[in-house]
Amino acid sequence: MSYWFKKVQKPIIGLAPMHQVSRADLRKKCIKFGADVTYSEMVAAEAVIRNVPQAFEMMKFSKLERPFVIQIFGSNPDSMAKAAEIIETQFKPDGIDINFGCPVQKAEKQGFGACQLQDAKTAGKIVAAVSSVLKNTPLSAKIRIPSKDIKQSLNFVNEIYQNGIKMIAIHGRYPEQKYRGLSDWTFAYEVKKRFPDLIVLGNGDIHSLDDLKNKLDNLDGALIGRAAKVKPEIFKSLSQIKK
Ligand SMILES: Cc1cc2nc3c(=O)[nH]c(=O)nc-3n(C[C@H](O)[C@H](O)[C@H](O)COP(=O)(O)O)c2cc1C
Repeated sequence: MSYWFKKVQKPIIGLAPMHQVSRADLRKKCIKFGADVTYSEMVAAEAVIRNVPQAFEMMKFSKLERPFVIQIFGSNPDSMAKAAEIIETQFKPDGIDINFGCPVQKAEKQGFGACQLQDAKTAGKIVAAVSSVLKNTPLSAKIRIPSKDIKQSLNFVNEIYQNGIKMIAIHGRYPEQKYRGLSDWTFAYEVKKRFPDLIVLGNGDIHSLDDLKNKLDNLDGALIGRAAKVKPEIFKSLSQIKK
């Protein structure tokens, strides 16, 4: 299999998934200014299965937004697998990503997003189910730091890695922090050390090339969220890190 991230010169610098923000217009701009990858906003697996038009609208893309990763969320392994199958067949994105990082209350009530970081076994089952249906699309996950207990956090990554994720993006905040404090990339560095074959992207609080240079360390790349939302041309300066 020839995955998009094997063709990109490292470090990989991409546009992060952002609900109601990471849409076609912004994705095109980011690619034009030098982003290596763009993500969709998060899409509910249940909405994909039920053929909800808005969900299908969110997943449309053109070649000007590629490589393009579609991010899905959900709590049921079968639904997640069915949705992934539909997405792979109908949209043929460059990657499919699972959201294990959304910290909002609605997500917690419905049992998806960051609350899934507390149940590594179930997360592993979701990854295994999705992974088993994908024929030609790499599976990735986006997480926050699962726990203050490093062993527990590494166990979560191990569980999803063993079940089939090829790439992980780590937003260096705990779920309960929401957006308070600063993103701490130390856990991401540790993940890369422990899982050298996993593509590991850091995420959180990159606003300049200097921030990126200071934070990248041993990682394979980074995802940029809010700074790209207000200034997509940031990728022009960030991509200078490849020189
Ligand atoms: C408006 C907004 C919407 C977001 N939506 C998503 C989402 O759909 N999926 C996801 O994994 N993360 C989502 N995030 C989190 C971002 O992808 C990213 O992890 C976070 O903003 C930290 O990176 P930054 O400091 O570069 O913005 C969202 C963030 C913002 C600000």
